[in-house]
Amino acid sequence: MRQNRIRILQRFVWGPAVMWTVSVMAVKAENTPVAEFIGAEACAACHSEVVESFKGARHGKMLPKQKGIEFEKACETCHGPGSLHADAGGDKTVPGFNTIKMFKILDTAAVTSACLACHKDADRSHWSGSSHDRAKVSCTACHSLHNAKGHGDLVAKNTSETCYVCHKDVKAQMRRSAHMPVEEGKMDCNSCHNPHGTPTAKMLNASTGNQLCYQCHQDKRGPFVWEHLPVRENCMNCHHPHGSHHDKMLVTKQPFLCQRCHSYTRHPGTLYDADNAAKQRSQIFGQSCYSCHSSIHGSNHPAGKALTR
Ligand code: HEC
Ligand code: HEC
Ligand code: HEC
Ligand code: HEC
Ligand code: HEC
Ligand code: HEC
Ligand code: HEC
Ligand code: HEC
Ligand code: HEC
Ligand code: HEC
Repeated sequence: MRQNRIRILQRFVWGPAVMWTVSVMAVKAENTPVAEFIGAEACAACHSEVVESFKGARHGKMLPKQKGIEFEKACETCHGPGSLHADAGGDKTVPGFNTIKMFKILDTAAVTSACLACHKDADRSHWSGSSHDRAKVSCTACHSLHNAKGHGDLVAKNTSETCYVCHKDVKAQMRRSAHMPVEEGKMDCNSCHNPHGTPTAKMLNASTGNQLCYQCHQDKRGPFVWEHLPVRENCMNCHHPHGSHHDKMLVTKQPFLCQRCHSYTRHPGTLYDADNAAKQRSQIFGQSCYSCHSSIHGSNHPAGKALTR
């Protein structure tokens, strides 16, 4: 904890005004009594329920097993030395002591560095600078160490419910008529995103949107003899990644889907057009472009140049 505070202070040691503040704080710190570690049993005198329930929590069980931190020392590993807090009958303002406020709102940098002290593994190696880090969404916005409701110590019963606390728009998208099977439990937000950050925009679990989609939709990967350029470029040219009100999660309906790019083609023509007459079609509207251009993602047929087969 002390190390973390020093690190945070270091970040602000720029500019004379800040230097002054820091030195005043340092003088003050000299006169303040230093907090000491008192152990879980001492905490239990006032927080018996928390101590009891923590015995069954993931960290309560795993800190001794994996980190060699005996249960007696666990509380203060995260909360900081508690003697001043205890002596003052539960004062939440004593220096160096981490309360909920500190964990939730006050100092996201301090929280994350406290957690990352043990969790800076591959899965969180891109936390720093991620959208959540920049937006000051701290670890404890999604995880609860004492009152977890879901797998992975989540604050809600599962991943998507945890995300919906803030991303209400995505919740609505996932309930549109055509959607990714998240609500059905076949996948969750983490199938496509890593909320701890990735090198890709939108915290995607792959180097590009298309690489992500190919992970499960291999048949769209190609290469095809006849490629359709917008498919190669970005699946999201035509599909919404979460859900839409159009069949197959398309971003808009036919024929506008295609006409956003193909503003002029010589067909579908008029009713008396040779092609339409030959195929005995009585109407043009209601004919979606891909009822003829069925290999819309690309074709391997020698005569598939127009993606019709
Ligand atoms: C791995 C870090 C960690 C450890 C270990 C830990 N806590 Fe916490 N504690 C937190 C965080 C984070 C919060 C903020 C609320 C939350 O996330 O559940 C918190 C909140 C609390 C609260 C206020 C909320 C409540 O549920 O009443 C108390 C009291 C508390 N901890 C006491 C303890 C005690 C006692 C121990 C040891 C038995 C302990 N903590 C061990 C991280 C930890
Ligand atoms: C003498 C009784 C006493 C002891 C001993 C004690 N606490 Fe507390 N603690 C309290 C009281 C009372 C509060 C609530 C203060 C308030 O809400 O204003 C509190 C609040 C807290 C909070 C903050 C909750 C919040 O709302 O932010 C945490 C975390 C906490 N204690 C952890 C610990 C830990 C860890 C220990 C052991 C190292 C410990 N306490 C020892 C009495 C005690
Ligand atoms: C002293 C080291 C340490 C600290 C500090 C720590 N953790 Fe952990 N954490 C662990 C260990 C050990 C495990 C168990 C890993 C396992 O199950 O393989 C764990 C597990 C977890 C899990 C997975 C729970 C599960 O059910 O799979 C989450 C989430 C987590 N920690 C979040 C946090 C957060 C958030 C913080 C900061 C408030 C934090 N940890 C601080 C050591 C720590
Ligand atoms: C935006 C929400 C969110 C934030 C912020 C967040 N996590 Fe997570 N975390 C999750 C979800 C969702 C899971 C997967 C839970 C599951 O299904 O088990 C997870 C899993 C974990 C796990 C266990 C599985 C694994 O990946 O090893 C650990 C440990 C963990 N998170 C630590 C952290 C730490 C440390 C921070 C802060 C640096 C953090 N998390 C911030 C949502 C979040
Ligand atoms: C505490 C609120 C909160 C929670 C919970 C939360 N997020 Fe976020 N998320 C934000 C904020 C704030 C931003 C940044 C602003 C924005 O782009 O909306 C963000 C951004 C994102 C972005 C990136 C947007 C971009 O433009 O880069 C993704 C993806 C995302 N969140 C996914 C998730 C997932 C998945 C979960 C659940 C595991 C989750 N979020 C939980 C608040 C939250
Ligand atoms: C099938 C993969 C997939 C799943 C599942 C998924 N997402 Fe996304 N999400 C994406 C892609 C791809 C983008 C980027 C879209 C773009 O760049 O146009 C994205 C973008 C986002 C954004 C940024 C939106 C914006 O307008 O910038 C947020 C926030 C987000 N997702 C949250 C979530 C949440 C929360 C869940 C779970 C309920 C979830 N996603 C499930 C693929 C997915
Ligand atoms: C983790 C695996 C996974 C990833 C990644 C994934 N999908 Fe899917 N996708 C599925 C599953 C499962 C279904 C449902 C299939 C079913 O129910 O038959 C589906 C269905 C679809 C559908 C048809 C929806 C409908 O209404 O019939 C489209 C379109 C689609 N995905 C596009 C995408 C796009 C675009 C991406 C990249 C952003 C993507 N998928 C990423 C697994 C995935
Ligand atoms: C030019 C627009 C367009 C682009 C770009 C596009 N699609 Fe499609 N996709 C469609 C249309 C149109 C349908 C509906 C076809 C139907 O109903 O017969 C569809 C249907 C689907 C389906 C469901 C039916 C099936 O064939 O399995 C999946 C899955 C799918 N697309 C995935 C993808 C992936 C992955 C990408 C990116 C590699 C992508 N699409 C890019 C237009 C597009
Ligand atoms: C985001 C823009 C975009 C969208 C949307 C789009 N296309 Fe394309 N399409 C292109 C581009 C670019 C080419 C390549 C043109 C070239 O090579 O000259 C192309 C090529 C084609 C070709 C082959 C033409 C040729 O001469 O090789 C057909 C057929 C076609 N598109 C049909 C469709 C249909 C049907 C839809 C709707 C499902 C659609 N396109 C949606 C951009 C788009
Ligand atoms: C009745 C079947 C049918 C329908 C419906 C249809 N097409 Fe075609 N389209 C064809 C055929 C067949 C070709 C190949 C013509 C050729 O090789 O000369 C073609 C060729 C194309 C080409 C290649 C460039 C060109 O002009 O030769 C584009 C682009 C195209 N169609 C776009 C569309 C769009 C956009 C729609 C929907 C508004 C659409 N098509 C609806 C049958 C159809």
